[in-house]
Amino acid sequence: MNQDENPFVVIGRIKPEYFCDRKAESERLIKLLRNGNNVVLKSDRRMGKTGLIQYCFDKPEIKKNYYTFFLDILHTSCLQELVHELGRAIYGQTVSLGHKMALKFAQALKSLNGKMSFDANTGLPEFSLGLGDIEHPELTLEEIFQYLQNASRPCIVAIDEFQQIEKYPEKNVEALLRSHIQRVNNCHFIFAGSQRHLLGMMFESEKRPFYKSADNMDLGPIARDVYMGFMVKMFSDKGKNIENDIAGQVYDLYEGHTFYVQKTLNESFANTGAEGICDRGILLQSLQNILDSNDLHYREMLSNMSIRQKELLYAIAIDGKAMQITSSSFINRHKLLSASSVQAALKKLTAAEMIVEEGKQYRISDRFLRLWILRLLGFPLPL
Ligand SMILES: Nc1ncnc2c1ncn2[C@@H]1O[C@H](COP(=O)(O)OP(=O)(O)O)[C@@H](O)[C@H]1O
Ligand SMILES: [Mg+2]
Repeated sequence: MNQDENPFVVIGRIKPEYFCDRKAESERLIKLLRNGNNVVLKSDRRMGKTGLIQYCFDKPEIKKNYYTFFLDILHTSCLQELVHELGRAIYGQTVSLGHKMALKFAQALKSLNGKMSFDANTGLPEFSLGLGDIEHPELTLEEIFQYLQNASRPCIVAIDEFQQIEKYPEKNVEALLRSHIQRVNNCHFIFAGSQRHLLGMMFESEKRPFYKSADNMDLGPIARDVYMGFMVKMFSDKGKNIENDIAGQVYDLYEGHTFYVQKTLNESFANTGAEGICDRGILLQSLQNILDSNDLHYREMLSNMSIRQKELLYAIAIDGKAMQITSSSFINRHKLLSASSVQAALKKLTAAEMIVEEGKQYRISDRFLRLWILRLLGFPLPL
């Protein structure tokens, strides 16, 4: 094991030894898939859906027996783009599995014939298609599913930010996908996403094509004691230490929200010298570093907001979890204009996903942004 390697991974694939917990969740997900179910996987943004899926895909029982594919469709806005992403994800994976499979996939996509170019060195087709090359997305989609159906092993396809298909201008995409998915019996699906209510409506409302077509999994934070144990072990495996109550404070600062915990520990680990101890001083310094590095981005973000939106954002930042935000007590305490101006600002901020509602409470989605605002307003960090 590389002693210098930072064990708190925040970008890309996480090696199993640096992956924290998710024991019950990975067992459940794998069990559902192996028993022929499709799964809807929901959680807040950056809680660990992608990490969990990849962790499961890397497990021997999945890796040895299935072909797995992963695509994120957050940036797509029409069927053509979806088909492009799906094709690219499958092609990328087949190339890593061998020439024969990649060629077979290219051959299966008859509707693209002549549009795939061949790499002069490897002889492999290149999936360097432009979007416009997919002239008949419905036909290409059919060919992709045909390919999956005939694959030599069962397949698992994970589609991240799946709720995006609802925003496509074509009206039939949900029904079209549903009918393909229903017919292909060699392939199971994970539909992941962070917009709970949109995914909920897709899979739980009777009128929708995907109604009750998948089992539900809601990913919460990792348990406090488990995460703290992980932090302590990661430090000590590398010859360093973290004070127990500092580990607890990091967890509590973000209510265990994975990305923010990982990022803070990544920075804190880097700032702790060899054989050193991560204490309150190092944690505070690390937080300042993180907020500094986001400074420009956050300033720009604020510069594009109206004064009413900013006021509401600040009020919510101060409260952390804000309740009854249109009540006169909230409005007076934070010197806001009126209930209707709060309503209007709230609508904009929620639509932009800057604020999330949890139960009857509101909080700022980006937990670093909240800390940055507190610092901007001269409040101490809540540690
Ligand atoms: N179990 C875990 N152990 C360690 N780090 C994790 C774990 N799950 C997620 N992460 C980290 O948290 C961050 C957010 O995870 P990600 O899977 O991208 O979230 P989501 O897909 O829900 O938005 C990533 O930086 C990832 O490296
Ligand atoms: Mg993700």
